[in-house]
Amino acid sequence: MRLKDKVALISGGARGMGAVEAELFTSHGAKVVLGDVLVEEGQMTAEKIVEQGGEAHFQPLDVTDEGQWSSIVEETISRFGRIDVLVNNAGIYRVASIEETPVDMVRQILEVNVTGVFLGTKAVIPQMRNQGGGSIINISSTAGLAGSANSSAYQASKGAVRIFTKSTAIEHVSAGIRANSVHPGMIDTDMINILLKDPEERRQRISTVPLGRIGTAMDVAYAVLYLASDESSFVTGAELVVDGGRTAQ
Ligand SMILES: NC(=O)c1ccc[n+]([C@@H]2O[C@H](COP(=O)([O-])OP(=O)(O)OC[C@H]3O[C@@H](n4cnc5c(N)ncnc54)[C@H](O)[C@@H]3O)[C@@H](O)[C@H]2O)c1
Repeated sequence: MRLKDKVALISGGARGMGAVEAELFTSHGAKVVLGDVLVEEGQMTAEKIVEQGGEAHFQPLDVTDEGQWSSIVEETISRFGRIDVLVNNAGIYRVASIEETPVDMVRQILEVNVTGVFLGTKAVIPQMRNQGGGSIINISSTAGLAGSANSSAYQASKGAVRIFTKSTAIEHVSAGIRANSVHPGMIDTDMINILLKDPEERRQRISTVPLGRIGTAMDVAYAVLYLASDESSFVTGAELVVDGGRTAQ
């Protein structure tokens, strides 16, 4: 029970990594609130956790809306009394060259992936400060560590998340709030179906990973679990890479 009595709020928790983190967290004793724009899937994810004996609640959340962040934070506190962990996990990914990327697409990606993380952080800080601390985990990407072609707006957004995390860590260290970023490589979720559906493309991408496979949502969830727990109490402003060794080359 690595998260016994902790309360966690996870954005983008309806499916993919966020949903798997919610299941893992509750299996380690946490109470979890999930927020997502995918309402039906979010409700189903929360119901599944409750059926398995965990404590979970879903509330619709668009991470770009400051008012919706206020409501989900209020709901979490009124339901479970505190917020120990925020996972800023919601994100969107688009493939296009710089020349083919319309400005609206750039704005949308930055709005969800960067402004969304900023607003989530801003929304939980007062509660975390009042209760003596907390752990904020921002899901960046290996795209935030090194460049690559045809997803430049996404890459820029994830680079911003990396530095924003370090600024959060330094600004709120005296309040006992830790902030760390997680940098997944290729992880088998709906987000990158577009890249992996062609078997030849999949084989080619796997060949770039020293550990020889695509990651799973659970590979990332265990890294997030560590940062959410008190096991990482001396870790803040850090970058945890979960990519099968790809960026170590
Ligand atoms: N899958 C990968 O290979 C990979 C690699 C590195 C980083 N990531 C990052 O991991 C995180 C989780 O991605 P995933 O792979 O589970 O993808 P996913 O698409 O399965 O999940 C993302 C979730 O975010 C939600 N979301 C999108 N916009 C939102 C908004 N405005 N408000 C609230 N929720 C919103 C989606 O509805 C979805 O449930 C993302 O931040 C992504 O950028 C993914």
